Amino acid sequence: MRKILAFALIATIIACSASRQLPAVRVDESWKVKLLPPSPQQEGGDPAAGFDYLIYGSYIGSGIPYDFYKNKMSNQPDTVLRRGGLNANVAYAATVFEAPNGVQVVNGNCFTCHAGRINGEVVPGLGNSFSDYRNNLTPMSRLMRLGVGLQYKKTDKEWQAFEDFSNYFREMAPYIQTNQPGANPAFRLAEACMNHRNPADLTYRKEPNYEMPAYTVATDVPPLWNVKKKNALYYNGIGRGDFTKLLFQASVLGIPDSAAARQAIIQFKDVLAWLKELQPPPYPGPVDRPLAAKGESLFNEHCSNCHGAYGEEERYPNKLVSLAVVKTDPLYANYAQNSGIVDWYNSSWFAQTEPRSYFEPELGYVAPPLDGIWASAPYLHNGSVPTVEALLNSASRPTYWSRSGRSDDYNHQELGWNYAPLAEPKGEWAFDTTLPGYSNKGHYFGDKLPQEERRAVIEYLKTL
Ligand code: HEC
Ligand code: HEC
Repeated sequence: MRKILAFALIATIIACSASRQLPAVRVDESWKVKLLPPSPQQEGGDPAAGFDYLIYGSYIGSGIPYDFYKNKMSNQPDTVLRRGGLNANVAYAATVFEAPNGVQVVNGNCFTCHAGRINGEVVPGLGNSFSDYRNNLTPMSRLMRLGVGLQYKKTDKEWQAFEDFSNYFREMAPYIQTNQPGANPAFRLAEACMNHRNPADLTYRKEPNYEMPAYTVATDVPPLWNVKKKNALYYNGIGRGDFTKLLFQASVLGIPDSAAARQAIIQFKDVLAWLKELQPPPYPGPVDRPLAAKGESLFNEHCSNCHGAYGEEERYPNKLVSLAVVKTDPLYANYAQNSGIVDWYNSSWFAQTEPRSYFEPELGYVAPPLDGIWASAPYLHNGSVPTVEALLNSASRPTYWSRSGRSDDYNHQELGWNYAPLAEPKGEWAFDTTLPGYSNKGHYFGDKLPQEERRAVIEYLKTL
């Protein structure tokens, strides 16, 4: 009994200290919608070179020495991107590249998170909704440091090509553990790495720049084909100014300093050109055309004011919708607004050197383009809703739900994952919408449609 009490007490202390550190959630009633203004962007990049850079490039800067990786870690051939050279020997989500000192190293690439599976295929640019960050990565970061440290001396080039990544991995590991499958802690990853970088020259700094709460706030991963329509990046529109600098952010995981960063971002002009050409995969099933035509006029009446118009005359209004209007989970927008990363970013190399990018956090979410929306379940910024049908009919949204984890387990009627509502959140793919940050409330804009009109809108969405 005493043990149970002690456990309950400790659990309460942990819960309280975690929630005490989180910002009190605010909703700003003073505005409804803001138009996100465009910023000048770098034109004239080469799309093919951009894709090449994403799958072969050295933008992460440092990593595990390839010789160590080859002998000590699991090797999977690249059956997806079918790359050449040493990259034929590593899975598509990793890249072998040359660190600044000439050592071949391995690290994750953008497609760790930005290639997703649908109907058994990996689609570059689709968000990966099958990742699982529920494990504590601290033991792995220690083991890796120990292993590489045993094999190489501190004065060896291999250790030097590994050390930056190892430092940042160690710093971020305690902060990116999530409590939900599929949820992606990229914001926290960036927050934890930038926390240990000198803002002026991006070098490693042991002392943290700001405090981070214990509770991990994570999101779904947006599809990259939306970038071409957007004036501001990320779910809350926080990413402003020059996109090449924003695209390069994952490099905070290992890039040694701003000199290497300056080199890397030159190539992100090509990456941006690739993103501008990237198209969503077409819906693979049959479409009832007369029903979709009916859906199109309903969509234009009820939805396009926020989400834009598609087809012959494309229009995308770039609207940031206040939490007071969209009413979806407010935690992420609040978390980002209060994070120490905002001041850090705006005083850093990213914002203080040309081309400038900056963070402008707001208490709202962007109404995203809906191109290829059939493929990017689950829905909302926190991935709390398994299908478009449930998104447009809030009464039917499950509090706890589970999917099989198979990418071909797809529901063509409701657009999204086949799911089972659960009585309690148990099982490998169980999603719990009662946890802070993962509520499935809000976006009630489909509720007023009668069932047959909702069906028509869904049929239309298949064609986008
Ligand atoms: C650890 C996973 C992860 C990695 C690695 C990663 N991203 Fe992301 N990315 C995310 C998540 C999650 C978001 C959504 C964050 C948000 O909106 O707050 C995102 C957002 C974006 C966006 C904004 C999209 C939009 O619609 O606003 C772009 C562009 C992007 N990432 C590009 C990249 C590129 C390029 C790389 C590699 C250099 C990369 N990302 C690496 C997880 C990742
Ligand atoms: C007042 C503006 C507004 C209206 C009207 C509106 N939406 Fe949205 N919609 C949003 C916002 C904002 C989000 C993002 C909310 C979030 O992620 O928390 C969103 C998200 C979505 C998503 C999920 C996107 C994703 O990638 O997860 C879909 C699908 C969607 N809306 C469809 C519709 C349809 C269909 C209608 C018309 C019946 C509609 N919306 C009406 C603002 C609006």
